[in-house]
Amino acid sequence: MTALLHWYCILPSPPMIAALSIADEILELKCQRRAILLAHHYQSPEIQELADVIGDSLELARKARDFDGEAIAFCGVWFMAETAKVLNPNRVVVVPDREASCSLVESCPVEPIRAFRQEHPDHVIVSYINTSIEVKAESDILCTSRNAVKVVNSIPPEKPILFLPDRNLGNYVKRQTGRENMQIWQGSCMVHATFPARRLIEAKIEHPEALVVAHPECPEPVLALADFVGSTSAIIEWCAASDAAEFIVMTESGVNYSLRRQAPGKQFYYVANENCNCSECPYMKLNTLEKLRDCLLTLEPRVELSEEIMRRALVPLDRMLAVK
Ligand code: 13P
Ligand code: SF4
Repeated sequence: MTALLHWYCILPSPPMIAALSIADEILELKCQRRAILLAHHYQSPEIQELADVIGDSLELARKARDFDGEAIAFCGVWFMAETAKVLNPNRVVVVPDREASCSLVESCPVEPIRAFRQEHPDHVIVSYINTSIEVKAESDILCTSRNAVKVVNSIPPEKPILFLPDRNLGNYVKRQTGRENMQIWQGSCMVHATFPARRLIEAKIEHPEALVVAHPECPEPVLALADFVGSTSAIIEWCAASDAAEFIVMTESGVNYSLRRQAPGKQFYYVANENCNCSECPYMKLNTLEKLRDCLLTLEPRVELSEEIMRRALVPLDRMLAVK
């Protein structure tokens, strides 16, 4: 049974009101709007600092369902906010920046998925949560990086699968489950798919004691060098529980905020990818404190979805949430 997340207020003390900082304004608006602030691990530290909940995409989807306020300010990317809206059709869901998309969403338009469905009615369509609401509505079940192996294992072995859109996660799940009857869409994450194994090897030479943790959106040669593969939250939990003192982290560097809190005193090294020569998601980093304040003030940009699409997307989403 998940505990209900209570909306709550922290107001700036009266002497500070004369010179409200943006953070104070956000806390005050959050209170006025009876809003909760959900933040993905890839958000900037100043946003995570103000969040009621910080989590991976599965945790945030669960938390979005279990709270008693009126609005959700979703500090993450648009598809995550759409998921929160499907689970909260009567609540207002806002995102600081409407352009906060995801290269996986962009790599998977709905038309070819509809065509595939028509041509292969026997296939189970397993969609990663990093998809548009339209693609979710065409899917049989969703998954996140945290539960993808369990979701695929929950499907009868004789049923053929189309896994979409992330090829690296799909291939990882295929290796973990030994599932042969699985077709994989060829989408990729612009951050993780461009981490070169060569740079990871250089980092390992520089830090020979460090263990390697990696997100399953990384390419196979990177995952082959990892001591642990998991979702953002799973990586943080694993590093905190490990006896090791140093880690090379193959995911977006926003996880550093929770790693430093949950594993104080340990060392974390980040490898730059070949796309931006950094380890930051450009979509996630579109959200800023100023935009967060403005979206709480205006309640825009707001996720608006038709009842029909929410009803259809809820079916595969509920199936995923039921997988233990
Ligand atoms: P998590 O489900 O691990 O939070 O991953 C989301 C994501 O977008 C990874 O790039
Ligand atoms: Fe999408 Fe990659 Fe950014 Fe995650 S890190 S939101 S998968 S582009």
